[in-house]
Amino acid sequence: MNKIRKAVFPVAGLGSRFLPATKAQPKEMLPIVDKPLIQYAVEEAVAAGITEMIFITGRNKRAIEDHFDKAYELEAELEAANKQALLELVRGVIPKNVTCIYIRQSAPLGLGHAVLCARPVVGSEPFAVLLADDFMATDAGTAPVLAQMTEVYGYEKCSLLAVQDVPRENTRQYGIVKAAPYRPALELVSNIVEKPQPAEAPSTLAVVGRYVLSGAIFEHLENLGQGAGGEIQLTDGIAALMQAERVLAYRYSGQRYDCGSKLGYLQATAAMGLKHPETAAGFSSFLEQLAKESGYSRT
Ligand code: UTP
Repeated sequence: MNKIRKAVFPVAGLGSRFLPATKAQPKEMLPIVDKPLIQYAVEEAVAAGITEMIFITGRNKRAIEDHFDKAYELEAELEAANKQALLELVRGVIPKNVTCIYIRQSAPLGLGHAVLCARPVVGSEPFAVLLADDFMATDAGTAPVLAQMTEVYGYEKCSLLAVQDVPRENTRQYGIVKAAPYRPALELVSNIVEKPQPAEAPSTLAVVGRYVLSGAIFEHLENLGQGAGGEIQLTDGIAALMQAERVLAYRYSGQRYDCGSKLGYLQATAAMGLKHPETAAGFSSFLEQLAKESGYSRT
């Protein structure tokens, strides 16, 4: 299979780092300026040519289904009020050729378990996984991160993990790979460990929320027992896959914001607020004012 057609969005996590905001709504619906995180991720998948979006949902996630569905009452009201621009915005949330499929993860048994829930729909073909709370920004003129990866997949034809260097004291927050240089921006993975202590981490190369995975991953996930924290870890599935198939780490071009954390979310909001045509000028002068008042210099 040459082309990646399906993307899996695991959105069944508890979002405990963002309570109480995530008590009754999914963290993936938190907006960056005016768009929810999940919509950015879906747009990234669309830009990579993907047409089947598979959401692994849990309790309190109905807002995601509603967001990508038709909004009859709202559309009728906007139409009656002749608010065409807003109507287009609401109707254009998802392109017409894109299909959305929802699968319920009955309990949050881990990211690996969430991905395994997609098996009946994905089958044996390669697919993408996007964690929407990892918000990936790219400069104008640079392809979105998943599109960079599907392009690499086109000639490498193997599983790919998006990676970035992190400070050693932060390794316990990530899956960490041991890898050897392979090609520009690509490394051959020989080991992967979930959330190692800094002293035990095999490197400081961390896996972030974009993957292209071979369909064979399902077999390995199926055979796994519970890993760290009593969950089925995607990392353990990838470690098993690696014994049978080539797995490459891809150093993506772009900026990642961890929007599952409060600080990352604020940083993403500020970065995008400074880019959005409706807010850029006003937000920039507000930040300058704020910096002056608090005695900081932005230079
Ligand atoms: P996180 O580690 O960010 O967990 O999951 P979380 O529960 O969402 O957030 P915190 O740590 O409690 O604040 C990584 C990704 O895997 C999904 C999450 O939705 C998130 O996108 N996930 C995790 C599932 O879909 N199911 C699970 O059982 C666990």
